[in-house]
Amino acid sequence: MKYVIGVDLGTSAVKALLVARDGTVAAETSREYPLYHEKSGWSEQEPEDWVRASFDALKELSAKPGVKPEDIEGVSFSGQMHGLVLLDESHRPVRRAILWNDTRTTAQCREIERTLGDRLLKVTKNPALEGFTLPKILWVREHEPEAYSKARSFLLPKDYVRYRMTGGLQMDLSDAAGTLMLEVARRQWSGEVLGAFGIPASFCPPLIEAGGLAGTLSADAAAATGLAAGTKVFAGGADNACGAIGAGILSEGLTLCSIGTSGVILTYENDANADYKGKVHLFNHGKPGAFYAMGVTLAAGYSLSWFRNALAAGESYDKLLAGVGDIPPGSGGLLFTPYLVGERTPHADPDIRASFVGLDGSHTRSHLARAVMEGITFSLNESVEMFRAAGKKVTTIVSIGGGAKNPVWLQMQADIFGADVVALENEQGPGLGAAMLAAVGCGWFPTLDECAAAFVKRSGSYRPNPDAVRSYAELFRIYKDVYAHTRDVSRALSPFRK
Ligand code: XUL
Repeated sequence: MKYVIGVDLGTSAVKALLVARDGTVAAETSREYPLYHEKSGWSEQEPEDWVRASFDALKELSAKPGVKPEDIEGVSFSGQMHGLVLLDESHRPVRRAILWNDTRTTAQCREIERTLGDRLLKVTKNPALEGFTLPKILWVREHEPEAYSKARSFLLPKDYVRYRMTGGLQMDLSDAAGTLMLEVARRQWSGEVLGAFGIPASFCPPLIEAGGLAGTLSADAAAATGLAAGTKVFAGGADNACGAIGAGILSEGLTLCSIGTSGVILTYENDANADYKGKVHLFNHGKPGAFYAMGVTLAAGYSLSWFRNALAAGESYDKLLAGVGDIPPGSGGLLFTPYLVGERTPHADPDIRASFVGLDGSHTRSHLARAVMEGITFSLNESVEMFRAAGKKVTTIVSIGGGAKNPVWLQMQADIFGADVVALENEQGPGLGAAMLAAVGCGWFPTLDECAAAFVKRSGSYRPNPDAVRSYAELFRIYKDVYAHTRDVSRALSPFRK
């Protein structure tokens, strides 16, 4: 049997899938690594932790009984987006990586807007947001000049792990789109943006398609992973692009809801012409020549994991959520806004914080848990609403990630989104998309579409329930008011945060 491996380098853990030629997942494993929040709004990781965890996970897969290292034909990646890994002239990180959910860069975002004006949106197709990479580069230059003076180039998280496997520095287009330095429509680094901030072209690694062959496994990496030296290593893509590939979002009309640490609503675009006025992101897809538009809820799955850790540490999600299906829409008049770490879409606001509104003495822990799930879904629905307002038809949404593991949540998505929600059989998230990039790269299929026809299987479909749709439409209007009413309070509280 021949295999490929998809490595999904996430924010809390790396997950690796060993996938056979027929698309079945023969084995999977994961390794966690720490997140460092030294100050409020900061979020960093140690690149060496990613490498150690990824190599360990690969070692476990390559040692599975019955699997010979030479049967593993190719490896590819999905990666958390935007994280800045600054490298010195020997390609060693000059400091910890600053991650996508780090919000320290508001001043740099304003500087980018002042400098580029409306060219920013024309060229990069995206607004300046704290999570993106360019503001992080400017922050390090301003606040850590010593570290910056050593930096010669940069990579994104999964690109760094891949570099340690092949020795080659590259960045794939779907991830490069989230740096704010790429001309998204023309698929090249923007000389205009780089020039405006005095960043030399040599700082940016060569661009490659997500499915492109980045190199082969070095002897050192082979020894560390148990894979065969010379194994093909394909570039891989941004986690959202890979999530879309793994869910078969490969043609116009298909929309994805993915709930991981963050949550996204993503819709396929054939070209980069759609004008969402910078309210959602427009990025290059992992499918060559394609794009996708996407809205992001920063704390989606994270809101639920925070809730569990704060109020039911050690309890399983099954137990925590056991009672939520008995509570009607609206959680007994309780609303939750999921702004635990600020927000992206539709309110790009690093200072806003979460709230429960409407708490009363009759509410149980199950009401709070349901309100958290509803709040996350309302937030994602703000992106759905924007796509519809721009003329997109959103009638079927494929749901993956944490939100797809629970039937109550899947029905809630159908009722709040007002669309059919489809779950996948044996859903594997972005790791499967990464494995599909390797499968196509190895020549198992001529295109990603043909690979998806073989690998991606739909299971249940959830139809909107008209009564619940009506209740949620009313609740959604109330939910949308909460932001405006808590913005100033959140800002006033910000000096009291650690
Ligand atoms: C997308 C984003 C997140 C991360 C999560 O713009 O910041 O979805 O990719 O890993």
